[in-house]
Amino acid sequence: MKVLGVLGSPHKNGGSAQLLLAALKGAEREGAKTELVSVYDGEIKPCIGCIHDEEPNCKFPCIFEDYGKIILEKIYEADGIIFSTPIYWFAPSGQLKNLIDRMTCLENMVSYGEPSYLEGKVVGAIAVGADEGGAWTGGYIITTMTSMGAIIPPWGIAYSHKADRAIYDDKALMDAINIGILTTRTIARLKGIPTDLTFVYNKDLLETIRREVIVSLNFINTGKEGYGKRQAKRSSI
Ligand SMILES: Cc1cc2nc3c(=O)[nH]c(=O)nc-3n(C[C@H](O)[C@H](O)[C@H](O)COP(=O)(O)O)c2cc1C
Repeated sequence: MKVLGVLGSPHKNGGSAQLLLAALKGAEREGAKTELVSVYDGEIKPCIGCIHDEEPNCKFPCIFEDYGKIILEKIYEADGIIFSTPIYWFAPSGQLKNLIDRMTCLENMVSYGEPSYLEGKVVGAIAVGADEGGAWTGGYIITTMTSMGAIIPPWGIAYSHKADRAIYDDKALMDAINIGILTTRTIARLKGIPTDLTFVYNKDLLETIRREVIVSLNFINTGKEGYGKRQAKRSSI
């Protein structure tokens, strides 16, 4: 069982990275092989909508030879995908949105007499912000993925508004761990292995994974309340 984590943040130690790592650690405990890619590690050209051309070219693999194509291939190979994005104005980061638009080449295989290449893949979503928009942003990803033919696991969405302190948001952390666990268990179920799809609440597991994430990100617990290097001087973000 392969689970791919797609990080939508430019910050490798930020809140979305923290919760994504926690989710992947949950997945690993269920026997998944995991990999993490960041959409900021290379160029992802914006979709040019060739789906509307007279002779449509919108099929997998995408026409662009860029880093986006490499991630699309990894998505194609994966059994499960967990997206984790910062909330940028009530939405995923623009760089992640570029990737999602480019995923049309996987979905549009339906125009070539094949099933969507997202069909049967299990997808969870994590969103991290400093103020508002977690449900919208995670909900956007979930809505889009089910519309592309993917399967959403139970409790498949997690969000925190604690920005780069998300790892200390107990509820969001437990939710993120569950995304990893339940994405993997749903994959197993689809492969015919009987699994329990109940939400897991386990304080020991939460603390263990929190420690592991802090160590692997070399994240320093200052013990301070609040988050970010500065307080926002505006009412929204
Ligand atoms: C362009 C931009 C737009 C943002 N919009 C929102 C927003 O709508 N809601 C929110 O809660 N936080 C917003 N934020 C704050 C980020 O989501 C927050 O800093 C978050 O920690 C970033 O995730 P990261 O730490 O994983 O990079 C915004 C930040 C930026 C740079």
